[in-house]
Amino acid sequence: MKILVLGSGAREHAIIKALIRTGSDAQDITCAPGNGGIAQDVTCFSLDPTNSSLVTDWSIANKVDLVIIGPEAPLVAGVSDALRAKEIAVFGPSQAAAMLEGSKSFAKEVMAAADVPTGMAMECDDLAQVESALVRFGSPYVVKADGLAAGKGVIVAGDKISALSHAKGFIDKGMRILVEEFLDGQEVSLFFLSDGKYVMPLAPAQDFKRAFDNDEGPNTGGMGAYSPLPWLPEDFVTEVTERVALPTIREMERRGTPFVGLLYCGLIVGSKGIRVIEFNARFGDPETQVVLRRLITPLASLLHSSATGQLGSASEPEFMDEVAVTVVLASEGYPTSSAEPRVISGLDQIDDEHVEINFAAAETRNAELFANGGRVLSVVSVAKTFHKARKHAYKAIEKISLSGSHYRTDIAQKVDEGDDD
Ligand code: AMP
Ligand code: GLY
Repeated sequence: MKILVLGSGAREHAIIKALIRTGSDAQDITCAPGNGGIAQDVTCFSLDPTNSSLVTDWSIANKVDLVIIGPEAPLVAGVSDALRAKEIAVFGPSQAAAMLEGSKSFAKEVMAAADVPTGMAMECDDLAQVESALVRFGSPYVVKADGLAAGKGVIVAGDKISALSHAKGFIDKGMRILVEEFLDGQEVSLFFLSDGKYVMPLAPAQDFKRAFDNDEGPNTGGMGAYSPLPWLPEDFVTEVTERVALPTIREMERRGTPFVGLLYCGLIVGSKGIRVIEFNARFGDPETQVVLRRLITPLASLLHSSATGQLGSASEPEFMDEVAVTVVLASEGYPTSSAEPRVISGLDQIDDEHVEINFAAAETRNAELFANGGRVLSVVSVAKTFHKARKHAYKAIEKISLSGSHYRTDIAQKVDEGDDD
């Protein structure tokens, strides 16, 4: 099966490594635009992944059997619609279905129609409305921009001044605001493959969103993750399938905008039970790095079945018993400021069968890898226990030198059972 992967992050690298690990031939995989690290595994070429006609023309000319869309930007730009119009199998929802991620008020409307549990929220068009919603829900205040904001759209603040000033920034840009009730509990990411009618759950993961240890500092794209989550109730996946994923997929189908691709359910599990805090229309980053690292079932066939309406007859995804941990290495200043490109060294010192590196902001210059963005790479480790997986991941990341870089030291700490040698 000839496969084109669109995107350039560690998520796309994880998808590619999982394709190869579960039976795809690396020669059959191409990535656009990819990055210097991904290019060590498959051919990468420069192409704007949001340009529908370029992607479609290239896929036809190169007889691509399946296009896998990694990030949200090509989805929102309608790249999957253009591919489908030319009868090319594509794993990624239509522009209309990707609105589940692109608009938080649309997602709330779908959830209300499908009776999916989520936090109460008020839509606001001006600051006076925001202020009265803040008073209604009380502190901590949750304020969300109602559109894609590159991971910077949400603030959870204890003081009203910060909440209002966050809202003002987006209102000034013409965006609507959602003020939501604060939901207390553990965050869980659960991914579902969907072919528009059926869903198949992958394994739950937990993402660490804040920049620094002990959940301090600003929100980021995600600084680490682990999977599975041993502390979840046994029926958790079944409950989310029946109360969240299936009703949402059915509602999207009823509206004439079937959701084909990956439904990312961002959940809070707390005293009020399970609540959806967000949907995304794509694999999460860095959760994908740990979820797909444990996959045994051929990924190409799972994604192709989703893309072609055949999930109902596909076999359930299987995962290995080992656990997976990923730690993200970020550039100096991330996420508040950006650093000039800097050399990454020490990678050749990592020689550990438990560990693989998924690259994100990495480019090759004169045969050396340079970090050229915020999240540079994810160190991914698998082992029998979380203690071992963490030990391997941290030993590996300590060997990498990147001036000014930082990473969290507490990823998966709460499930670390201590020394088990
Ligand atoms: P979102 O982009 O909607 O996932 O929000 C980003 C982050 O803000 C989430 O991962 C949570 O940590 C936090 N968050 C969002 N909504 C809520 C909420 N209603 N209550 C508490 N925390 C929230
Ligand atoms: N890890 C969060 C996201 O992918 O949106």
